[in-house]
Amino acid sequence: MSKLIDTCGRKIDYLRISVTDRCNLRCYYCMPPEGVEFKDHIEILRYEEIIKVVKTGVKLGIKKIRLTGGEPLVRPQIVKLVRMLNKIPEIEDISLTTNGILLEKYAEGLLAAGLDRVNISLDTLQADKFKKITGFDNHHQVISGIETALKLGLKPVKINVVLMKGINDNEVFDFINLTKEASLHVRFIEFMPAGNNSAKQDDRYLGIDELKERISRKEKLLPIRFSQGNGPAAYYKVPGFLGTIGFITPISNHFCSSCNRLRLTATGQLRPCLTSDQEYDLKGILRDSKDTSKLKEVFIKAIKRKPEEHQMYQADCFSKNMSQIGG
Ligand code: GTP
Ligand code: 5AD
Ligand code: SF4
Repeated sequence: MSKLIDTCGRKIDYLRISVTDRCNLRCYYCMPPEGVEFKDHIEILRYEEIIKVVKTGVKLGIKKIRLTGGEPLVRPQIVKLVRMLNKIPEIEDISLTTNGILLEKYAEGLLAAGLDRVNISLDTLQADKFKKITGFDNHHQVISGIETALKLGLKPVKINVVLMKGINDNEVFDFINLTKEASLHVRFIEFMPAGNNSAKQDDRYLGIDELKERISRKEKLLPIRFSQGNGPAAYYKVPGFLGTIGFITPISNHFCSSCNRLRLTATGQLRPCLTSDQEYDLKGILRDSKDTSKLKEVFIKAIKRKPEEHQMYQADCFSKNMSQIGG
């Protein structure tokens, strides 16, 4: 029985765990050009501490875990964390959001450790553009990561494409074509204001309605129910194609009324909403107190104060960059 029901009646059963604030890319929308100062290792929760938090969460109704970063695969021994999580019987779904660079290397170990599925961030199918967006040359490694995940059956494999007008909107049909013969699920995401961004006012923002209109001039899109996920995407299919196309609309049609999640930051703060810097400290309890029942109190307090809807246009929202929250 879930005890995590907030003041708006939303049932919270999904915890997104950021395991590191570090990343092996520098996507320009995710980190400021000058970079961010990474936290000292001592400030980052140890795996044993993360497990204590999760065990508290499951007593309250958490059933689904997603590992995020920064880039979660740069954290040493990430496979070990998946194994530890997989031993908790109440956890029904363990997933990972990754940039894919290290996926070829770790996919087999992750699968054996109990990872259920992966979402891979990839904003372009062109190697030169990839370098412009991310600052690095590893496009081919991401593609190999996707192929490996498909080959090993780390399924469903979802591709997250942050939609940016004038940057990657000319590749929409190339992305859709990926779903023709592969069981891939390509999700287009509206660009959110985070850190120093201000999406809607930004020239790069493109709403999903406009995108769907452009697509439907060329392809038929059939709405479908796709049950393998815990997130806000709405899914469609081009008739005859193997995979699906998803749309995530945090700006034009937000999904806050059905929000099912909490976030745990790499430094041990419980964050009830992506878009609000309101956070509740768990690390202090983990390190200074032997009484873990206090962790439960913090979960309940965080849920009580979970914002009713996103605060993306308020002055004090999102002072952190996405890389520090995990999306
Ligand atoms: P599935 O369980 O596979 O559906 O995963 P998911 O969509 O919950 O997770 P993922 O990490 O792949 O997130 C996809 C996109 O949705 C990212 O751009 C996130 O930043 C965005 N997103 C995820 N959760 C939230 C949220 O609570 N609020 C908002 N506004 N955006 C979110
Ligand atoms: N707007 C929308 N999505 C974003 N992501 C990172 N920054 C933004 C943003 N400003 C996505 C990443 C990744 C997921 C965790 O969040 O591409 O797929
Ligand atoms: Fe890019 Fe993700 Fe790294 Fe941010 S955390 S710089 S979106 S790969």
